[in-house]
Formats: sequence, structure tokens, C-alpha cells
Amino acid sequence: MCGIVGYIGDKEALPVLIDGLKHLEYRGYDSAGVAILGEDLKIVKTRGRIKDLEAKLKNSNLKGKIGIGHTRWATHGAPNDENAHPHFSESKNIVIVHNGIIENYLELKKMLINEGHTFRSETDTEVIAYLIESFYDGDLLLAVKKAVNMLEGSFALGVMSKDEKDRFIAVRKDSPLVVGLGKGENFIASDIPALLSYTRNIIILENGDIAEIRKDKVNLFDLSLNPVKRDVQKITWSVDDAKKGGFKHYMLKEIFEEPQVIREAMRGRVKDGKIEVPELNFAKKFLNEINKIYFVACGTAYHAGVVGKYLAENFLRITAEAEVASEFRYRDPVIDKKTLVFVISQSGETADTLAALRLAKSKGAKTIGIVNVVGSSAAREVDSVVYINAGPEIAVASTKAYVAQVEVIALSILYLAKLSDKLTEKEERLFASAFEGLPEKAEKILKQSDSVAEFAATTKTIEETFYIGRNLDYALSLEGALKLKEISYVHAEGYPAGELKHGPLALVTPKSLVIAIDTYSPLREKTLSNIKEVKARGGKVLAVASEGYQKIEEVADKVFYVPKVADELSPVISVIPLQLLAYYVAESRGLDIDKPRNLAKSVTVE
Ligand code: G6P
Repeated sequence: MCGIVGYIGDKEALPVLIDGLKHLEYRGYDSAGVAILGEDLKIVKTRGRIKDLEAKLKNSNLKGKIGIGHTRWATHGAPNDENAHPHFSESKNIVIVHNGIIENYLELKKMLINEGHTFRSETDTEVIAYLIESFYDGDLLLAVKKAVNMLEGSFALGVMSKDEKDRFIAVRKDSPLVVGLGKGENFIASDIPALLSYTRNIIILENGDIAEIRKDKVNLFDLSLNPVKRDVQKITWSVDDAKKGGFKHYMLKEIFEEPQVIREAMRGRVKDGKIEVPELNFAKKFLNEINKIYFVACGTAYHAGVVGKYLAENFLRITAEAEVASEFRYRDPVIDKKTLVFVISQSGETADTLAALRLAKSKGAKTIGIVNVVGSSAAREVDSVVYINAGPEIAVASTKAYVAQVEVIALSILYLAKLSDKLTEKEERLFASAFEGLPEKAEKILKQSDSVAEFAATTKTIEETFYIGRNLDYALSLEGALKLKEISYVHAEGYPAGELKHGPLALVTPKSLVIAIDTYSPLREKTLSNIKEVKARGGKVLAVASEGYQKIEEVADKVFYVPKVADELSPVISVIPLQLLAYYVAESRGLDIDKPRNLAKSVTVE
């Protein structure tokens, strides 16, 4: 994620930038900084939050009427002062803030190093600043245009030059950026809330737009510098609504971010029919020696690990187990250097998960981290970290992180299968294309949210729920049940569908709701039979099934369909109706969805 902001006008830029950054802190908060062009071009930046930046700014006397600012959510390079934005070009004549990921930054960096340039940070962003400088010949707009045409990946940029006090340049490609139009002043920001105290006239930039921002004028161009026109929108939301992007809760906003999260998680990893996770470039000899794989985590991340277990056994043909970290750490598991341990953690700071990781390492296992927060303890301590790049997750109930975790686990396992000759080129191509289709399918599911809300409103008398499924659908049933119990306080349990008759069936009454997940095609007839068992006992059944499996309507009371997708990738999108259901059930009961009772986002104590 990351938040960027920019200002030009007659006011002092600093207070406007700081105010804007405070509204963008939800987009990232590991470091922050501002650059202001007054007599000179100066940067002040620090690791930490906006309040840490404000403390550092107290003695800085930063004055000027044009500036850019940034609050960071690290993707390349640890969260420290040096990697914080803004970044100078080599001569310090150009300064830049960036949100996004530059996929080809290593190639560009190598090229610039070969030309004799020396870098100061580990970020992909600094490469853009150096590149712009290499093209700069007195016209910042032209230099930015030339540089961005060399970039692959996603970016929203704000760029200033020491020699151009009357304008700055902004660019958008696959990362959000808006322009705010004021009277004698203009702004840019990653999101509308940062600007609402100053203007309600907003242009939402489109992909490939370059904006030249002057005090009394904004000019828009495409990537070839042909002028383009965009509508000005009048924003009527309150600041608080705007922070949540118009959604009532962060949880719902984060669910609706999932199509984009799915795109970001595969960025640079799925391309031209290939799957690449270079963080896992293990030797084939080592991979052939592995005889056991563990997925260790807590809560939602553990449920992503259950998906991992099924996928690892399926593609790698190696025994795999998923285990909650608090059990794993105290049971003296059999581990040696032929064991591969995946630790999964959104925050990278969960105490039990870290203890499990340290135990696995002490016994010689090779450890892989599937982590969201860059530079977190888990990310630093594992042998190899694969970031999920989901951006900050604010709601306590994890949604978008789960989607990205499952996706990145699938990518990692397919990549390991490829390295150990267990995936053919044809299979790789098919999966690569299946991954690429996921964001659109997720969008299609989100379009059904009203019908999920309608169904949720009919569940007010339900006292308990059972989520059932087989294979990967069983893994999903665990996560569906966790979501519901966390935020709606309705008793919910996930069971393997075949296990229902060995106990839980005794609890099924007309006051129970059974949610049957039936997307895994090899076993869907079996699950259908289990649904019939529930119906015969008077239970109400909601099914989540793949499009085209109409037959299920004959037995279930209500069906939500998810688009067809390779069975192995189904959890990435089939969890969405389950997340929406939990959300709307809690909402229909008027609960504090983003902060459920007794729970915390990150559990850093045992
Ligand atoms: C807490 C949160 C869950 C999360 C779990 C693991 O219980 O409420 O949403 O899944 O911790 O957190 P982690 O940061 O390690 O993924």
C-alpha cells in the first residue's frame, strides 16, 4: 500500500502534507517523510509513525509552498530511516514518493550501477529517482515520461525538481492516485480523505495518466504526453465515511479490496505462462531430500496453512501437516534438516508462531515465511520470506490477508513442484492462466454481496452453525466458521463433511444452519449426500457451490455460486461469500464488527 500526498499553492506546504498523511496512515505506518522545496530542496523522514515524523520536524524549520509526503508500508527493504520516502536522486536535485512495486527494478538498478551510479537505499523507489535524473534536461515532465515508460509494475508517483518551483508531476499506474482541485492551490493524494479538509473537487486519475500539477492549473497527459481529459467529481461523503472508502466498516472495505490484493500477490510471480517465486530458489537436491512439510500458524493464518497441507501433498507428494503454533511449540515435534516448515503470519509478530519458528530452526528445519508485514520478526527470522503484499489490514477479523496467504502458498508450492520436476510446462501454463483469471472472478462474487446480505437478514433466530466441506472445502469450512464466530458471536464449527454423522448431526435442529461448501469437483457428489443427511433432520442448508452445479439447488435451501476455477485455487475466491456472510450476519445484529469483543489483531503474548 503506502500513502502519498502532494501540495502546491500559497500556504505553507508542511501542515497540509502532515494533515494529509494522518488521513492516509491506514495505508501504511512503518515510516514517514516529507520533502519541501523552499530556498532549497529538503527531506525530513523517519522510521515510525506520523507522530514520530512530527517530533523530528520540530527542529527542522522546513519552509516552502510546494511539497510531497509519504507514509510507508514496506515492500522492498526493511522499514528504517534510509528506506523511508521521499527519496532523492543521486545529485539530490530530484525527489520522489512512490506507492507500488517496480517489478524490473533490479535490472534497472544493475544498469544504473554499471553506468557508475551509487545507491543509498534498498528500495525500488530510489531507482525511479535516479532514472528520472538520468533523463532530466530542464523539463521534469519529459524526464518523468521517459522514466516511467521503462518501468514495469505498479506505481503512483509524486516527483519534484529543485529547479522547477512552479510545478510537480504525478503518475498513476495500477496504484490509486487522485488530484484535488483548490482555488490557487492543487493537491495529489492516494485517497480522497486526505484532501477533504481542502477541497471536494476531485479527479480520479486513470492508469497511465501523468499529471502536471501547478498552483492554478492541472494538466493531464497519457504516457506519450498526449493531453487527456478526466471528469471532476464533487465528493459529498463525510471525512469518516471517506476513510473507509465509503464502506461502513474496514472489514467490508478489506473484503472489497480482494480483487486488487489477488493481483498484487501475483505481481512479478505470474507472467507469460510462468510461475516464479524467486525467494524460493532452492537446489533440486535439497528439495528431493525433504521428507516432511509443516504449516504452522495461528487463527486465520493456520487455516491458510490447512490449504497448504492439501496442496503440498497433492503437488509435491510429500507428507504435510498443518498445526496450530501453540500446540506445535510444546509437543517436541519430529524435525530435522529434511523438514520444511512454512510459518504463516499476517503481522509476523504472533508470539506462538515466532516460538514455533524458533523451535523449528533450532532443530535444523528449513523455514519459509508467508508474511504480510515487511521487516517483522517472522520475516527477519525465517530462512526465506515470501511477502503476500496485501497492505495493512485494520479489521481484527482477517479477510484480505487470508486470500493473499492462500494464493501465495499455492504459488510457492507450484514453484517448488516446478523446481523438483513435479509440474509439467503445460500444467504450469494452465495454472498461470488460472491465477490471472482470479481477480475478475473475485469481482464477480462481490457483485452478489446484496444477495448475501439479504440471506444474512433471515438468520436472526439461528443459534448455531456448522460449516462442512471435503478436502480444500473442509479447509474453507474452518475459516468460514472462524469468521462467523469472531464477529457475530454465533456458535460456529467447521467439520469434514464426512464426519458429520459421527457426532455433530445429533445437534442439528431447525434452529441450526449448515453451510455446505461444495466447490471441490472430485468430491462434490459426496458432499451432496451429506447435505441430504442434514435436510432429513430438519436443518437449514446454505450451499456455496461452483457455477454450473445446478443440481445442488434441489437439496439446499439457498445457494451462492462462485465462478468455476481450477479446484486447487478455489479457496482463494470461494472464501469470499463466507466472509461476506459473517460480515452481514454480524451487521444485522448491530455488532462492533471491526473490533470484536475479547479479540486483538496481533497477539504478541502467549
Ligand atoms: C489473531 C487475529 C487473527 C489472526 C491471528 C494470527 O487471533 O485476531 O485474525 O489470524 O491472530 O495472526 P497473524 O498476524 O500471525 O497472522
